[in-house]
Amino acid sequence: MRFRLVISCLLFLASIPSFLLAQDVRKSWTLEDNWKFSKGEQEKAFAVDYDDSGWQEVTVPHDWAIYGPFDERNDMQIVAVTQNGEKVATKKTGRTGGLPYMGVGWYRRTFEVPGFDPEGQRVKLIFDGAMSEAQVYVNGEKVGFWPYGYNTFYFDVTDFLHTDGSKNQLAVRLENKEQSSRWYPGAGLYRNVHLQVTPKTHVPVWGTFVSTPHVAEEYASVNVKTEVKNVPEGTDITITTIITDASGKEVTQKENTQQLNHGRPLEQFLTVNDPQLWSPETPQLYFAKSTISIGGKLVDEFTTRFGIRKIEFIADKGFFLNGQRRKFQGVNLHHDLGPLGAAVNRSAIKRQLKIMKDMGADAIRTSHNMPAPELVELCDEMGLMVMVESFDEWDVAKCKNGYHRFFDEWAEKDLVNMVRHYRNNPSVVMWSIGNEVPTQCSADGYKVAKFLQDICHREDPTRLVTAGMDRISCVLDNGFAAMIDVTGFNYRTHRYQEGYEKLPHSLVLGSETGSTVSSRGVYHFSVEKGAQVIHEDQQSSAYGLEYCSWSNLPEDDFALAEDYDWTLGQFVWTGFDYLGEPTPYDTDAWPNHSSMFGIVDLAGIPKDRYYLYKSVWKPEEETLHILPHWNWEGREGEKTPVFVYTNYPSAELFINGKSQGKKAKTKEGSLQERYRLMWMDVTYEPGEVKLIAYDDNGNKAAEKLLHTAGKAHHINLIPEKEKVSVDGKELAFVRVQVVDKEGNLCPTDQRSLSFEVNGAGAFKAVANGDPTSLELFHKPTMKVFNGQLTLIVSPEKSGEIKVVAKAKGVKTGEETLSAY
Ligand code: GAL
Repeated sequence: MRFRLVISCLLFLASIPSFLLAQDVRKSWTLEDNWKFSKGEQEKAFAVDYDDSGWQEVTVPHDWAIYGPFDERNDMQIVAVTQNGEKVATKKTGRTGGLPYMGVGWYRRTFEVPGFDPEGQRVKLIFDGAMSEAQVYVNGEKVGFWPYGYNTFYFDVTDFLHTDGSKNQLAVRLENKEQSSRWYPGAGLYRNVHLQVTPKTHVPVWGTFVSTPHVAEEYASVNVKTEVKNVPEGTDITITTIITDASGKEVTQKENTQQLNHGRPLEQFLTVNDPQLWSPETPQLYFAKSTISIGGKLVDEFTTRFGIRKIEFIADKGFFLNGQRRKFQGVNLHHDLGPLGAAVNRSAIKRQLKIMKDMGADAIRTSHNMPAPELVELCDEMGLMVMVESFDEWDVAKCKNGYHRFFDEWAEKDLVNMVRHYRNNPSVVMWSIGNEVPTQCSADGYKVAKFLQDICHREDPTRLVTAGMDRISCVLDNGFAAMIDVTGFNYRTHRYQEGYEKLPHSLVLGSETGSTVSSRGVYHFSVEKGAQVIHEDQQSSAYGLEYCSWSNLPEDDFALAEDYDWTLGQFVWTGFDYLGEPTPYDTDAWPNHSSMFGIVDLAGIPKDRYYLYKSVWKPEEETLHILPHWNWEGREGEKTPVFVYTNYPSAELFINGKSQGKKAKTKEGSLQERYRLMWMDVTYEPGEVKLIAYDDNGNKAAEKLLHTAGKAHHINLIPEKEKVSVDGKELAFVRVQVVDKEGNLCPTDQRSLSFEVNGAGAFKAVANGDPTSLELFHKPTMKVFNGQLTLIVSPEKSGEIKVVAKAKGVKTGEETLSAY
């Protein structure tokens, strides 16, 4: 048996919620290796002497379903999706990704607690998330059950452990019911599992709460509340809290002797002078290290990472961070990581967040459930505000086997864990108690909303609560929206004004916006706006003009954010494509099985829309993006509109040197004309597309060329990072392109590639972003989708990793990555 012992290591700390560990008094391990896994029900698999020698060896995080195969019969749902306005049940294929996530799965492994002292220590098993209905056994005995697959939960297992220091047997039974989700949920121990050993008298899991009741340029007041377990009331406890900045420099400290007072935690106020405020632009972090002693004896040490920042929602005026108004430039993210499935990988999440931040996004909504702790920690560090969401269902069902089965008994426990887990994270700026819950139209729905909101307020009085509402008529009339702190509308942009006028808070957030659909590199003619547009090739057009019957194009949301003080900004549906929900190809439309909503595709490659958002959200950086590609053999002489997404106000387009005229963004025409430059009447001829952009003064500011690509000639491998670390977790992402002799992308190439990874790394996965592709992510062969795909490599030791991509008819591509 091998433990991976990780103490005082920042990487590890990122996976343990909101605290650091003192080596001497508390220890923690992440249980990654030496798990055994078996799919299907196994009788008595919880028993100590159960023979698991024939089971598969796996490492955790592990997603049992991502390896496929894809099959339309996997969780095929005959349903009417009422929230999409459907009245008649139809065959929904690919709704949960077409992957075999359903059924029972068992995990087993042993663990030791070195030097275990049953009298003087407490031992906890912490699950960052387990999909789902987890039943946990230690040494053959059941220690607990936690149904919601997305939440973090823990059990005190001290009393179940062997006292002689011998190996303990851990077994976990998970079960996913069919029709339990509206998207791919993943399966198994897909998030980390930790073992934590503390002294008997200790600060419990999520037992601190650090807030900043006063924040100004000159000083901030920091309030530290600390719970201590297993101390009789009336005992004098000395707590010394030292606050350090990110560089480790002490900025202040305070010592108090207090007693626990009728369950109230210890409480301290500290003052930080000249605080460095947390914001997306300056993600400054602080650490509060508390040492607890009784009668002069050190009892426990606990460090809470936090940030100093002020958040305000001001009626009529909007959202203010540290006194400055800003509109949320947010995206919704589902939890899956495309080809990696739901299995958490910190570097893959970091990559997603970086791609979003580079586009100008400053906020994430964790739709529609609790995120992995890694995501929130990374948002703290990288500077992204977070709306942490809890539920997609309350007591009324959306899915036959959804969370409504557990709501009455578990909602409070789930919310408590969520809020306590993330209330010290400065990135978290609001809680969401639900998404489009059918309860919003119940006469008593507001009572349920109040029940949940009150729990959030009780556990964290510093943040407001929102919910994504889509039944606007219901919620405006029945008191539901008036009950919730921050009005969050999903789509229905034409009703924002009404919401603003009717509701007491006088603010409206676009909690979910857009749902524009597109497939990377696919363009359909003629180029028109349209809802629920279906094309023969089962792809949506990347001209970015197609949306859902309930949704809209990006410009509606841009304009609302710009034109009204009382709008709070938006969270776009979605930042990345995700597995499942292949709208509009969701009704008997196999093989589609992944979404087309993403600004970025499932392979992490930006669609054209990425540059539209960037041109608006990051105007300080040059964006000059031309679409479509210019390889339209067979369309010679036909109308082929050209769109340009740019931060510049105007530009002139040339085809083979011939001007197509100058266009300027304007508020006079359609909303599209306010944000895009569009030449609708361009006649296609192969050759060169040239764009000259002009600044506000009409001066030439930038130029861009696009060429018709020649014959496919070779394969280009473009690593997203040159160097990757060998920490066992970092993954290397490599963009693979089929290009012509000059290196131009061949944008219509769909050939099949095969991969070899040698040296210090191994092939991990591959994805091409095609929502209809049934090729498996973990086989080293895949077709490029419109000339491109993403290869994922896992470094295994220090040294050089050689990556080779081959295909018929083109020269092999080779690239060397360095692992350190
Ligand atoms: C919303 C829902 C999302 C997703 C989206 C697709 O109504 O909240 O989860 O289904 O529609 O447009």
